[in-house]
Amino acid sequence: MLGGEEFEIETEELPADRVAVPESFAEQANVTPGQLRRFTEEGVDAWEMAGDLLTWDRPYRTVFDAEACDWFPDGQLNASVNCLDRHLDERKNQRALVWEGQLGETRTDTYLELSRKVNAVAAGLRELGVEEGDVVTLHMPVIPELLVTMLACARIGAVHAVVYAGFSAEALATRMAESNSSYLVVSDGYYRRGDAVSLTNRAETVRAGLDQDVTTVVVDRLGDNHQYPLGADEHQYRRLLADHRGETVDPVPRDATDELFLIYTSGTTGEPKRVTHTTGGYLAHTAWTSHAVLDIEPSDTYLCTADLGWITGHSYIVYGPLALGTTVLLREGEADQPPRTKLWELIEKHAVDILYTSPTAIRTFMKWGEEYPEEYDLSSLRLLGTVGEPINPDVWQWLYEHVGGGECPVVDTWWQTETGGHLITTIPGVDEMQPGTAGPALPGIEATVVDETGAEVDPNTGGYLAIETPWPGMPRELSEETRWAETSGVLPDSEWAYMTGDGAVVDDEGYVTILGRVDDVINVSGRRYGTLELESVIVGVEGIAEAAVVSGYDGRDQGIYAYANPDTDAADELALREAIYQAVETQIGSFARPDRIVFTPELPKTSSGKIMRRLLSDIAHGNELGDTSALRNPEVVGEIESATQSD
Ligand code: PRX
Repeated sequence: MLGGEEFEIETEELPADRVAVPESFAEQANVTPGQLRRFTEEGVDAWEMAGDLLTWDRPYRTVFDAEACDWFPDGQLNASVNCLDRHLDERKNQRALVWEGQLGETRTDTYLELSRKVNAVAAGLRELGVEEGDVVTLHMPVIPELLVTMLACARIGAVHAVVYAGFSAEALATRMAESNSSYLVVSDGYYRRGDAVSLTNRAETVRAGLDQDVTTVVVDRLGDNHQYPLGADEHQYRRLLADHRGETVDPVPRDATDELFLIYTSGTTGEPKRVTHTTGGYLAHTAWTSHAVLDIEPSDTYLCTADLGWITGHSYIVYGPLALGTTVLLREGEADQPPRTKLWELIEKHAVDILYTSPTAIRTFMKWGEEYPEEYDLSSLRLLGTVGEPINPDVWQWLYEHVGGGECPVVDTWWQTETGGHLITTIPGVDEMQPGTAGPALPGIEATVVDETGAEVDPNTGGYLAIETPWPGMPRELSEETRWAETSGVLPDSEWAYMTGDGAVVDDEGYVTILGRVDDVINVSGRRYGTLELESVIVGVEGIAEAAVVSGYDGRDQGIYAYANPDTDAADELALREAIYQAVETQIGSFARPDRIVFTPELPKTSSGKIMRRLLSDIAHGNELGDTSALRNPEVVGEIESATQSD
């Protein structure tokens, strides 16, 4: 399971000095050290603090059943009730959602309005035949209809599977086939940096590739000029909403262990990896961390720049923040998309309290210059958060000073699609921050760094990051496949462990610095790609014999670097390059297009014939090359290096 021969940890860039918690923040923080001590005193039962943030139809008596590996196993609840109904008494006229669209539109829904829409869509889905447990696939950009449909599914106990709008029709079909989903809610298209991208052929292509019948609902995003011709078994979202306006749908009580949603991510095989999150544990985890780490309160306006199609959007745009009854600002488009003032303008306009974004976006803002944020009044901000990849200390400092004015704590939150919510981060107002370091594992979580044999390494030594305690947001797959007791012995000194796929270093005080992926997954600009998935698409192109994909860095930008070996010397590289782009676009989506394609007569291989990706990764990062003596073809290295540089 551990990476073995290709594994090497870089520990050169160790982080900067600690930064004290701004006092003004600590005074008002949602959690105090005293509350957090419950985790030391009560162990797993302290997660009751998370469970108690929710409203249960049938209260749980057990927090965690270690035998079955289930959270709140005897509890029942409904996620849409937790995100909507229970807020209506106190704040029905408070804004739940403010949406800022790509074309400059603003749409606002109060909690009451949002709840009415969710009820109407839930009634509409029911009428189309959706029942408890059915998988409904959602494929849309960041528009309110997506969030409404997610909650409508949750209301009737259907399981949503959001497929990021940038995926191709083929990728959408693969995911629908895997989950045996017979319902698709899709938009007619989306806007990317102002240009309309049509999704009209989606439903047709999907249907052609699937065994099951598919009922489709089409959301109009592109307006009257882009009418989507409705076929048989295709319905208009707008009609559905109008036909069921005013109807209420009784929420379906779900067992805490029932699925809330599925989401696909890149795994270590060539196939997309399905991750299933539960209704009780997941919701408790995201609500608790939204409260304790993001410090969200109902009176806040909260902005997270992620796309709803990925896990961050699910956990920290929809479920956590709405469970706490806050105002969510939803922005369609990338955080760092021009105009350069847009994000700052939105923060000023809506008096945003909390900004949760990615290091990649901040790097772009930093490149653009501090004059853009300086033009705006950002003093409403109270907390800043980052997610998705390590943040370099200088980028952290820039964010802290130029966006937070030195007064807002920055939480560098480490987690994954699989973990559902934060696992490693400082708690603002409690822990000192260390730029470049995510921070300690959350109270109740044990994060360990181990070597290839699974033995814990000494502090300040690189190794594989393992999580040795269960957590409420753990996916169903983990409890099903690695039952607590059955996996004992995975690590010599531990009963159970989840191997994260990341390399890390822990210091003497338990602060964890993430060093990046050590498995066949790459993380480029905060986005996750399976190398084998990309490689199998590239090798499928006629004329390509072998391929290896790594992440690279050219001193300015991170990128996907594809090394490919044509099967004849006389290959037309221009045509091959085009064919590779085409294949990736159709089979995955244009967002996964390689930033560099380097043709090479041979790929570097070990004596046992394994492609040495680590070496390619060093070349793609412009690093000093380590030992190449284990290669059976060391003579290709120089050639690959110069091809990478000249490309
Ligand atoms: O490598 C880690 C990196 O992102 C991976 C998880 O990717 P994904 O499942 O797409 O989820 C992203 C949003 C949670 C991790 O294995 N990662 C995530 N957060 C951090 C991070 N690396 C360093 N620091 C972080 N704060």
